[in-house]
Amino acid sequence: MLTGRAMLAGVAGWPVAHSRSPLLHGSWIARHGLDAAYVPLAIEPANFALAIRGLAAAGFRGLNVTIPHKEAAFAVCDEVLPRAHRAGAVNTLIFREGRIIGDCTDGFGFLASLPDYDARRGPAVLLGAGGAARAIAAALLDAGCPHLTLVNRTPERAEALALALGGNIHVSATPPLEGTALLVNTTSLGMAGQPPLTLELAALPDHALVADIVYAPLETPLLAAARARGLIGVDGLGMLLHQARPGFEAWFGVAPVVDDELRRIVAADIPPR
Ligand code: ATR
Repeated sequence: MLTGRAMLAGVAGWPVAHSRSPLLHGSWIARHGLDAAYVPLAIEPANFALAIRGLAAAGFRGLNVTIPHKEAAFAVCDEVLPRAHRAGAVNTLIFREGRIIGDCTDGFGFLASLPDYDARRGPAVLLGAGGAARAIAAALLDAGCPHLTLVNRTPERAEALALALGGNIHVSATPPLEGTALLVNTTSLGMAGQPPLTLELAALPDHALVADIVYAPLETPLLAAARARGLIGVDGLGMLLHQARPGFEAWFGVAPVVDDELRRIVAADIPPR
């Protein structure tokens, strides 16, 4: 039930029906008994800036932004936070005192999803060089990861990403696994309907973490191989849940928690294969 004072936020996409954000934020709103609503907003690309400014003028607290609006979202901001500049994308808008502030919470969400992980522990290897790879690579480097190797089907894209981020980051044709503390798949390989990612993991150290940002299915062939090798595998659902935390807190003033119950609620909405 909403009152006239209800706090409003939502997710802008085109289409938007596939988004799990309303379920996720709606679960937190219910848990905290907030006078608030989080709604799906299907916004045509041509209307994006007009719609965003209109929602801000109508008193919305802010929005999440998903495909295909992530670049347009950058342009509509009055201020873009440093980590969103580093990520080259905006996924969270905060409307405050007549200004539109852009954040990117994907890198934060990824790091928060890793159990007992300190980026300073050792080198990381990242498969892929798209938008998700950039947010994660930036977060790892900024958290003190001593060395990052990018491996991508199109090496030029990885080279461009390494150049854009700067720091101790290199491109390789094959993943260097010996001594690697963290291996991350940011490609769509392993996603339902896509070919699997097949990689021989024997050379990874016993303490290595293997993370996959794919969450449909939850157990990708890569994670199955990691677990078979006795390593800890981290699925992509944690990143999806944790990336939502900063927006929720900024809009509604409550720091939400990611726990097993929330995982169960959102996982139940993901097809098993
Ligand atoms: P996102 O923004 O979700 O990261 P993206 O920008 O489309 O999506 O990036 C997808 C990543 O998956 C890229 O690294 C892509 O490799 P290319 O840069 O060579 O396109 C990778 N990818 C997608 N399909 C792939 C496949 N069949 N084999 C290897 N890599 C693949």
